[in-house]
Amino acid sequence: EKGTYEHYMLKEIDEQPPVIRKIIQEYSNDKNELEIDSDIRQALLDVDRIYIIAAGTSYNAGLIGKEFIEKIARVHTEVFVASEFSYNMPLLSQKPLFIFISQSGETADSRAVLVQVKELGYKTLTITNVPGSTLSREADYTLLLHAGPEIAVASTKAYTAQMAVLAILAVDLARAKGSSVPFDVTQELGLVANAMETLCNEKEEMEQIAEEYLSVSRNCFFIGRAVDYYVCLEGSLKLKEISYIQAEGFAGGELKHGTIALIENRTPIIALTTQQHVNLGIRGNVQEVIARGANACIISMEGLEQINDRLVLPHVLDLFTPFVSVVPLQLIAYYAARQRGCDIDKPRNLAKSVTVE
Ligand code: M6R
Repeated sequence: EKGTYEHYMLKEIDEQPPVIRKIIQEYSNDKNELEIDSDIRQALLDVDRIYIIAAGTSYNAGLIGKEFIEKIARVHTEVFVASEFSYNMPLLSQKPLFIFISQSGETADSRAVLVQVKELGYKTLTITNVPGSTLSREADYTLLLHAGPEIAVASTKAYTAQMAVLAILAVDLARAKGSSVPFDVTQELGLVANAMETLCNEKEEMEQIAEEYLSVSRNCFFIGRAVDYYVCLEGSLKLKEISYIQAEGFAGGELKHGTIALIENRTPIIALTTQQHVNLGIRGNVQEVIARGANACIISMEGLEQINDRLVLPHVLDLFTPFVSVVPLQLIAYYAARQRGCDIDKPRNLAKSVTVE
């Protein structure tokens, strides 16, 4: 139930820190280490490449999942939009494993790929919030999100839960392969939950940012580099689906190759910078758009902040910044939609699960 909340979406944004803690609990073994089911570990050890298939927000979580699996476990991973997979079927490796990421477990585009790759005899794993859902029943293995029912059409807590389960999978796989993991995942995810909570307590700030940057705009650009770019894709999807403001996530360096032509006086730009190695680059991009009149809102990670940044995120492990940086983007989208009087939990033209191809 919504309780005192005006919308499920806001309730679900606030539930993210407890969901991360719940996932830590559910995936902890008796030695207090995070692990996945041993059959799944065995299946993963046996593959030479992972193919992630998903749609919408779950696809955006898959992009971060690829980072985790490649950087932590060093297993080659590719991510595909489900509805495109069969047209652009890649050359598959010798021993692939398919991971389907789906909050509902009912997305028809993802199911079509599942059916197709099962026919080819490949192993499949579903990461879903709904036990007993179609994708869970039909795949060889399932990992659950434990996020509790997600009611709002705009997905929030499922996104961060998906990333958490993918991080645990990556760490477990690295350990099983005998590689050392240079951080304590339980501790780092705990810090992530605390940082998310801090941001959930800064709602007035997010409401003000929405007012300041988005109240009269018909469009908005989110820019970032590296993982920040992936989070920008999610931030822009949130904003467009509930506020109907046309929004795009862009790789900072790609702007000058065309999109910068769209920048006019007061065009809102939300720029994310959470990684040392991209900080200078993205700040350069911000200067380029400001010089063309943009109204830039810079969101940076503690340690990288500069005087005019609009919001500074609590510091977490570099790899885990997406958990934290997405929270203000979810809240900014929420308040922008609320200020416009939109139907936040049930945006026009959308259904919670898309069961047609
Ligand atoms: O249930 P699924 O995760 O498979 O759903 C996939 C997309 O339809 C879903 O993430 C959609 O993009 C959301 N409305 C985004 O907020």
